Amino acid sequence: MTTVTKSNKLNPDLTPSKIIEHLNRYIIGQDKAKRSVAIALRNRIRRRALPPEMSHEIMPKNILMVGPTGVGKTEIARRLATLSNAPFVKVEATKFTEVGYVGRDVETIIRDLTEFAVSMVRKRMIEAVQKPALEKAEQRLLDAMLPKPEKKFSMPEFMKAFTGKDEDENKEDSDENAIEAEKNERTRKRFLKMLRDGKLDGRDVEIEVNDSTSPISVFGAPGVDILGMGININEMLGGIMPKKTKKRSMKVKEALRILQQEEAEKLIDTEAMSKEALDLAQEDGIVFLDEIDKVVVKGGNSHGPDVSREGVQRDLLPIVEGSVVQTRYGPVKTDHILFIAAGAFSGVKPSDLIPELQGRFPIRVELEPLTIENLKRILTEPENSLIRQYEALISTEGTELTFTDEATQEIARLAHKMNSEMEDIGARRLHTMMEQLLEEISFNVSDMAEEKIEITADVVREKLSKLVENRDIRRYLL
Ligand SMILES: Nc1ncnc2c1ncn2[C@@H]1O[C@H](COP(=O)(O)OP(=O)(O)OP(=O)(O)O)[C@@H](O)[C@H]1O
Ligand SMILES: [Mg+2]
Repeated sequence: MTTVTKSNKLNPDLTPSKIIEHLNRYIIGQDKAKRSVAIALRNRIRRRALPPEMSHEIMPKNILMVGPTGVGKTEIARRLATLSNAPFVKVEATKFTEVGYVGRDVETIIRDLTEFAVSMVRKRMIEAVQKPALEKAEQRLLDAMLPKPEKKFSMPEFMKAFTGKDEDENKEDSDENAIEAEKNERTRKRFLKMLRDGKLDGRDVEIEVNDSTSPISVFGAPGVDILGMGININEMLGGIMPKKTKKRSMKVKEALRILQQEEAEKLIDTEAMSKEALDLAQEDGIVFLDEIDKVVVKGGNSHGPDVSREGVQRDLLPIVEGSVVQTRYGPVKTDHILFIAAGAFSGVKPSDLIPELQGRFPIRVELEPLTIENLKRILTEPENSLIRQYEALISTEGTELTFTDEATQEIARLAHKMNSEMEDIGARRLHTMMEQLLEEISFNVSDMAEEKIEITADVVREKLSKLVENRDIRRYLL
């Protein structure tokens, strides 16, 4: 049995302003979108603090993020996920097809979310039993390393039957046995100390470990959900068949690690784990539905392949609204799962979504196209911004790469110009421009003795103006 010390509950210290503070470290601007996801996340923490009668009534307010490509929609979701400590899946609406068509059906979203929750809970539970698991692992290692003590039977009757001597004479043997046992005990203790001091780390030992190569994985990769119904055949059969083990030889240190892992797995209460994970998925789960605009049909009159796209929207309805999805850990109610959908909606409008689905995303936020100022900040400010990435890469060659303020201003200006004259691809434009700008340096720097390279506005203009001015070249470069 496990004693659960910590839980996977959302961190109550995450106030909306703290959430925004975190998002600001990675995403420039888009304040409205940041605010609404911050409020949505906070509302889950608030709801968790209410009595069940009340909290059951409070449904999450799903969010639809609308904005041009490359302005931070997916990035906001990605950062929210790492921050929230909630089960989170990001899926692309285009990956799904209507039930009955070839492709994944939308219920797999909920199964993936549950798998995620299970792995979160399992991880925490495994961590909580590391100490007892280590103790068990140590004992198993000692068993493997020390010769088995010779058992001398001390039961008097038994001994008499074998030796023909009586009880008194056998007493000597039993004393001998006691001495022997004591000796063995001392040896074990000495070995245990050596083991704990790391003195045995480099020794070889042969241990019996679980054989992970399942004999029935011919059905597919181990763990594959073949029937698409949350039932895993390998696992089903694996439960019936005895666990196979095999002998492997390795260093003591490695053996201890493997045995500790095995013992930790055994110590987990899997039923409690499933129960907690199901609860976590249905109460705190967040699903990010990207590219939702790609399953929208213009004007709403559909035919041919459009029928399937609209079918995906219809299939999404019950899940977003609240239904029960079967998973291999048990049923998951989707009522309280938070859905955040996002799409560029360039050719179609949010109002082209089937009306029932529109109604289930009551919060609309528009993300703004990026200004020159935004682009400049994206280059420099976020942790691990593009400029920092290049500086770090080049520094490994012993060369310090720097950009003047005017240079970043110029890159941003040219990126904005290209976005407005050609296709607007948002911040992704910066990636292509930086690559172009630094192509020569990236190639030559390994063979150069230069200690410093400074990128000035002139360098930027020289390297990029051709790209910006020349339509023929541009066609090949996005
Ligand atoms: N506002 C921003 N702040 C910082 N980085 C940004 C911002 N917008 C976009 N980026 C960067 O640009 C790239 C693309 O952004 P993202 O994936 O979020 O685009 P998107 O809005 O989801 O676009 P699409 O509609 O094409 O999916 C990422 O590398 C991201 O870090
Ligand atoms: Mg995206």
